[in-house]
Amino acid sequence: MTTLDTTLTTVQDAYAARRPLSRAAFTRAQLSLPGGETRSITHYSPFPAAIARGHAAVLTDADGHEYIDLVNNYTSLVHGNAHPAIVEAIKSTADAGTAFAAVHPAQLDLAEAIIGRLASVQKVRFTNSGSEASSLAARIARRATGRRVLVMAAEGYHGGIPPFADADEPDVVRIPYGDADALRAAVSTEVAAVFLEPFLGAGGVVPAPEGYLAAAQEAAHAAGALLVLDEVQSLRNDPRGAQGTLGLAPDLTLMAKIIGGGLAIGAVGGRADLMDITAATRTGHLHHSGTFNGHAAAAAAGVASLRLLDADAIRSLNAAASALADAVTRASLGTAYVTRAGSIMNVHPVVDGLVITDPGAHPAWRTALHLSLMDHGIYTTPRGMINLSTAVTDAQLTRAAEAYGEALAIVGSAA
Ligand SMILES: Cc1ncc(COP(=O)(O)O)c(C=O)c1O
Repeated sequence: MTTLDTTLTTVQDAYAARRPLSRAAFTRAQLSLPGGETRSITHYSPFPAAIARGHAAVLTDADGHEYIDLVNNYTSLVHGNAHPAIVEAIKSTADAGTAFAAVHPAQLDLAEAIIGRLASVQKVRFTNSGSEASSLAARIARRATGRRVLVMAAEGYHGGIPPFADADEPDVVRIPYGDADALRAAVSTEVAAVFLEPFLGAGGVVPAPEGYLAAAQEAAHAAGALLVLDEVQSLRNDPRGAQGTLGLAPDLTLMAKIIGGGLAIGAVGGRADLMDITAATRTGHLHHSGTFNGHAAAAAAGVASLRLLDADAIRSLNAAASALADAVTRASLGTAYVTRAGSIMNVHPVVDGLVITDPGAHPAWRTALHLSLMDHGIYTTPRGMINLSTAVTDAQLTRAAEAYGEALAIVGSAA
């Protein structure tokens, strides 16, 4: 056994010993849910902590342990847990009836709020998730161009349903993220659209090289293809979206997470002529339905969430994240490095002087750090992604940086 293997066993044993009720919850869950969960990403060994409740930036598990929440349901809770204004928006919407087979005023409010923020978005179509938004954008792009092929980054993530769910999806070409030459070579006249994130999110929070996305936009347009910018994660980093920061004009934009204020939602927005392909007022339109598309409570919560996320709030979040990323990198004494895009970060191991940004690499190191942080009262993700909410306090951030120092000292180097 290597030192890291021994450390991992010690950390896992300590984690498990302190959480009998979470273990019992996992045992029960496995009887009715495959693998004890309903979302692959929320599983980790030996068993996940069963979270009982969350308020602001603090989560409490079934065994009564408290954690500073640096996960925020994978970036969707930009204002933390149970923000009073968002809870109030949900309650007052629910009081008037939860769902009707009709357009709801909250949907209009949210669509207008999004159009007011993103310069390239003229119209919006709601879904129930970012995954569904990706799927809808693919259908719009194929209908608009009469072509089938979609190009995406091999390390990219656009959700868990076709056409992007699996590596062997037909008519989807995968290219290495950040390589403009590979992208130009892939964008033939068969291509309907290029799908890209402004930074790799699930792929390790890796920002795009300078000029890459502008080159992608140019290459797509030169070939008569669309650029679909996936802002599901990046929307929180600039009131104008990453497209505002980078001066891009994507044809379609994917949104989710923060636009639902913590409830399930997704959206495609973009050029009116493209979005109108789905207009039921037109004969031969692209049929797009969903019983809960743009659910009223999610839309109302989203409006409240965007209202709170103004330019000042975003500036503070990004500055706090920058300070935390620096503090954690410093505290690691060379064993780790924090990549960052706005208020989303990923802690990665440094091996032989190289930052290993592949979130699947060095799993023992990542697992040991994750569980050790849990035992230091910090809620993070198995792959090392963390992000901030506006609910987190300076004192909690100071404590988080200290906890990283303590946990990294236990875990040591991944080498
Ligand atoms: C960049 C990106 N696109 C799409 C999705 C899919 O969104 P959802 O989980 O709402 O289906 C995600 C989810 O993490 C994402 O990070």
